[in-house]
Amino acid sequence: MLPMRFDIVILAAGQGTRMRSAVPKVLHRLGGKPLLQHVYETAAGLSPQTLTIVYGHGGEQVRRCFADWPVEWVEQSRQLGTGHAVQQALPFLTQDVVLVLYGDVPLLRRETLQRLLAAAGENRLALLTVTLADPTGYGRIVRDEGGCVRRIVEEKDADPDERTIREVNTGILAIPLRNLRDWLTRLDNDNAQGEYYLTDVIAMAVADGVAVETVAADPDEVQGVNDKRQLARLERIYQRRQADTLMEQGVTLADPARFDVRGEVSAGRDVEIDVNVVLEGRVRLGDRVRIGAGTVVRDADVGDDVEILPHCVIDGVRIGPGSRIGPFARLRPETVLADHVHIGNFVEIKKSHVGTGSKINHLSYVGDSEVGSGVNIGAGTITCNYDGVNKHRTVIEDGAFIGSDTQLVAPVRIGRDATIGAGSTITRDAPEGKLTLSRSRQITVDDWQRPTKKQR
Ligand code: UD1
Ligand code: CA
Repeated sequence: MLPMRFDIVILAAGQGTRMRSAVPKVLHRLGGKPLLQHVYETAAGLSPQTLTIVYGHGGEQVRRCFADWPVEWVEQSRQLGTGHAVQQALPFLTQDVVLVLYGDVPLLRRETLQRLLAAAGENRLALLTVTLADPTGYGRIVRDEGGCVRRIVEEKDADPDERTIREVNTGILAIPLRNLRDWLTRLDNDNAQGEYYLTDVIAMAVADGVAVETVAADPDEVQGVNDKRQLARLERIYQRRQADTLMEQGVTLADPARFDVRGEVSAGRDVEIDVNVVLEGRVRLGDRVRIGAGTVVRDADVGDDVEILPHCVIDGVRIGPGSRIGPFARLRPETVLADHVHIGNFVEIKKSHVGTGSKINHLSYVGDSEVGSGVNIGAGTITCNYDGVNKHRTVIEDGAFIGSDTQLVAPVRIGRDATIGAGSTITRDAPEGKLTLSRSRQITVDDWQRPTKKQR
């Protein structure tokens, strides 16, 4: 339990020049989700009284992107420093303690922040620090002989002795609001960068007899993103966490380093996932699901005992129990497969329902269709669902057999237990239980001679 009520401020006004991108830094994605969203979700998970996001000049794009978040947005039109940024948020703060987070530090764990908040309170400020082998670039934590924190000195303002300090400021801290209001009015920008440093409040706290506590963080979780190399490094840390979580739940991963989650996954028992599988959006995997190498699954509900063979792309689909998909199949949005359906290689299915036990095994396109149960669709069958202007539906009733290389020109209905002869172009409904085919007669030309090469 946290000792008091608190507010959160997320600083996100930095320009992110080193990303070399037209996209604002905090909108770059980690695990498929904008950096700022990671921070927001962690923050919201702590249930603060208020949540304020400080965004920068030109940051309307950021604000628009998350218009539905229940937060206060405040613009810092010029980036005059972290102290100045927090100042912009002051009008929205109401509680005893304020927790300051960075919008470009996405991997922070909720438990770490809970420890930090627990260390702060009336007359107590808490700093999240980390000890690094290479502290270059960070603000250093300066302590006295007794080990008490005296102040923070930024790299650019530090003397050679101070630069040898390896304990650094993560930038994340929890401050009593009453003191903060006072300290912020006393900040100046008389330093190497000409900025209003939030870190200068530490020395003021010491002078005012406010206790400064430190809480140690794991170096991985406090890393920030300033360029694409750091983004890629954090992506690997994030993916390793996702893989570990799934393995802890019993999922077998052929190689946790070759598996990516860009969304939320829930998995049943004895699920097996081969290499280079990507899961995106909301994916539910039932018991004993097996996914082959190189498959991408997005927004899907996959039933028990489903086997997805290598190199499939599955998006917005429900797959019933015991079905087998692929290799090389593409299932597109609004496709629903009942149980024990077989979809084979080079088959594309879009916005269609396929009934129990039906098979579409080779080289077919099925779109805008209602396929009954026990249907067998032969190789190379195409539903011609689009007339260039409108989409039309194809209905194939239970037990029908569609011969290979058939075109079903929609709207069209194939009756129950009907058989369609191979090579047909079906433009009118086919009655139930009968053989329907459209095919020119086969002839043999008796007196035909193969041409021979002319002598010259
Ligand atoms: C800051 C800390 C430093 C710490 C480091 C950790 C200060 C003075 N220094 O340095 O001690 O080791 O973070 O990464 O606080 N931001 C704004 N408005 C501004 C300036 C910054 O919103 O005017 C935001 C940025 O978007 C970013 C965060 O604050 O999310 C930190 O800014 P950054 O410029 O990266 O701080 P550093 O100079 O690296
Ligand atoms: Ca930084």
